[in-house]
This record gives sequence, structure tokens and C-alpha cells, in this order.
Amino acid sequence: MENSQQGNERLRLQVVIASTRPGRVGKPIGAWVAAEARQHEQFAVEVADLAAIKLPFFDELNHPRLQKYQHPHTKDWSARIAASDAFVFVQPEYNYSISAPLKNALDYLVVEWNQKPTAFVSYGGVSAGLRAAGAAHLAGAGGAQHDADCPGGQYSLRDQHDA
Ligand SMILES: Cc1cc2nc3c(=O)[nH]c(=O)nc-3n(C[C@H](O)[C@H](O)[C@H](O)COP(=O)(O)O)c2cc1C
Repeated sequence: MENSQQGNERLRLQVVIASTRPGRVGKPIGAWVAAEARQHEQFAVEVADLAAIKLPFFDELNHPRLQKYQHPHTKDWSARIAASDAFVFVQPEYNYSISAPLKNALDYLVVEWNQKPTAFVSYGGVSAGLRAAGAAHLAGAGGAQHDADCPGGQYSLRDQHDA
């Protein structure tokens, strides 16, 4: 699969839902983000729900920068992210950081994330996900070098929980 910027297609925006637990608020927030993004006619919007994608804990033999993937789930995830032009990570804050499924999904790939614009919609308790957004940046989400390309860069939502 090729990056859509090489053709005349609309830019492909991947909305990654980073929480996987039953009852998560991440799912409706992700649906809202995708619906908002679809109003922007420049994007073909896809939702990557990590609860549905079900990546196992990172299990590849080789360093991901080599792209010598052994498992079908890695090849599928690689193809999906390689074909994406930009990302919005919809993420809760768990224990002052990003969710384990998101960290795992990031760790699987290197090249496919690189040099692509990235934005964060974070949410949580008292911090409204601020520390999780910072941690995602440090973890290299979306190649993170270009996350400032997205207007606003980060949006935070606070729920009724305390942290
Ligand atoms: C295991 C766990 C750890 C959490 N840690 C924090 C935290 O450190 N800071 C915070 O502001 N909220 C924290 N929260 C609150 C969550 O961010 C909040 O409940 C959010 O709605 C969870 O997202 P989800 O419903 O999509 O799973 C935590 C919640 C859970 C379940």
C-alpha cells in the first residue's frame, strides 16, 4: 500500500482510539473526532480502534526499523499506518501516561509513522490527559516531529474522575 500523497486521492487521516477496556469513553470520543474530521473534505477518515485490531504484546524478532516483519498482524498494521498520511490519537491518561495498548501499537513500527502530521485528543481526570499527550510525544507517536503542523496540536477533555 502506498502513501496517498503520491496520487490524487484525498489525504488519509487515521483516528487511533487508544483505550480498549469495556465501557471506555474513548470509543464515543473517537467517533466524535472522526465525524468532525469528515466534515473537512480534504481527508478520507479511517478509525483504527485498538480494541478491534487486537495487536498482541510486541512479538517481532527484528527491530521494527528493519521492517522484516514475521507476523500477519504486524504486516497488516504496517500496511495500514504506511498508507496513512496523518494521525489523531484519541487517548486517555492512565497512571500519568499513555495507555499500554497505544504504547504497544507505537512500538511495532518505526518508518511507517515517520514524518507525518500528528495531533492528540487526550482526556482523563484532573489533568485532562495532558501528561498522556506529553508521554505520547516522547514515545514518538506519529513520528512526532511534525505534530505542530496540525492546528491546535492537542485538545484535552476532562471527565469527572480524579487522578
Ligand atoms: C488504570 C487507570 C489509570 C488512570 N490514571 C489516570 C491518571 O493518571 N490521570 C488522570 O487524569 N486520569 C486517570 N485515569 C482516569 C481516566 O483517564 C479516565 O477514566 C478516562 O475516562 C479513561 O478512558 P477510557 O474510558 O477511554 O478508558 C485512570 C483510569 C484508569 C482506568
